[in-house]
Amino acid sequence: KKRMVSAITPSGTMTLGNYLGAVKHFIDFQDEYEMFIFVANLHAITIPQEKEKLRKNMKEIATLYFACGLDPHKSTIFVQSDVMAHAQLGWILNTQSTIGELSRMSQFKDKSKKAETTGKGYIPAGLFTYPTLMAADILLYDANFVPVGVDQKQHVELTRDLAERINNKYSDVFTIPEPLITENKIKIMDLQDPTKKMSKSSDNPKAIILMLDTPEMIKSKIKAALTDSEGIIKYDIVNKPGVSNLLTIYSICKNITIKEAVKNFENKNYGDLKNETAEAIIEIVSPIQEKFKKLYNSSDVEDWLNNGANKANLIANKKLNKVQNALGLNFNR
Ligand code: TYM
Repeated sequence: KKRMVSAITPSGTMTLGNYLGAVKHFIDFQDEYEMFIFVANLHAITIPQEKEKLRKNMKEIATLYFACGLDPHKSTIFVQSDVMAHAQLGWILNTQSTIGELSRMSQFKDKSKKAETTGKGYIPAGLFTYPTLMAADILLYDANFVPVGVDQKQHVELTRDLAERINNKYSDVFTIPEPLITENKIKIMDLQDPTKKMSKSSDNPKAIILMLDTPEMIKSKIKAALTDSEGIIKYDIVNKPGVSNLLTIYSICKNITIKEAVKNFENKNYGDLKNETAEAIIEIVSPIQEKFKKLYNSSDVEDWLNNGANKANLIANKKLNKVQNALGLNFNR
């Protein structure tokens, strides 16, 4: 079986964007691929986190993985910091990457700008080396594919560069991964500013739909979503980003094409678009929330994560040892 690696960063709880852009696909891939899916808590601390909030976000994301349908008997699901090789290989990759290439990462540019303006004016070094840790996440498991939203593509490309560089300089230790961009490169956008992606670390709670939002919250957020004054329902990302975003969400939730979605709203108004989109989302999240409630206070999730970490550690440590040999780090070998 070919392998896949992917993750969500618990810098917030799971958004509808994470689900539609990533997790939904993990479920579909489970039978055909060997999946390694984790909670990227070491990535979360590249921006300041409150301890209790971080724990809650980790627990929610892990529980949601299972509630959404990830099967602990088919896939390896774990918490990143339970597998120390991630940080160890991340360090080694830091020494093989350049300040120039890391400076070109658009996520770093965005997040560091935000940290400078809204944070306390400092940029953590970890924010800069975030992509090398992500490369380690992927390379430790010889992933063939990395299913991610389009916003993470650049990081996977850097991972390929680093792997090729080390394979050429030392010996063939790494499999070169390919990004698998989900949902036809479609991003779920912010409801209040549909020109930027829906992000769990948004400061405006009305701008994002969370997987654990109640039906009332979903209705009111979608109702308040920014559209335009034209009154025509068509798909046009440039001129009608708000309407297009609702059409995207509707079509993915309903499992139909954008074209079919547009057709559904012929002779209907923005009110209809919003009501039906909200209903479509509620239909998707309700059964997931039911399962979430059952799992959240059971001991199953912790057991599954421990098993996942044990499996991941075996594979990751082997790979780390190979890399250390390749670089001459192991005494006598
Ligand atoms: P993160 O936590 O920002 O997002 C998790 C996944 O959800 C996708 N996604 C979206 N897709 C569509 N529309 C959106 N608005 C949207 N927001 C997020 C992301 O593309 C991603 O697939 N660095 C990664 C986590 C990570 C990782 C890895 C991923 C760490 N190590 C190794 C793959 C392999 C991140 O912060 O994703």
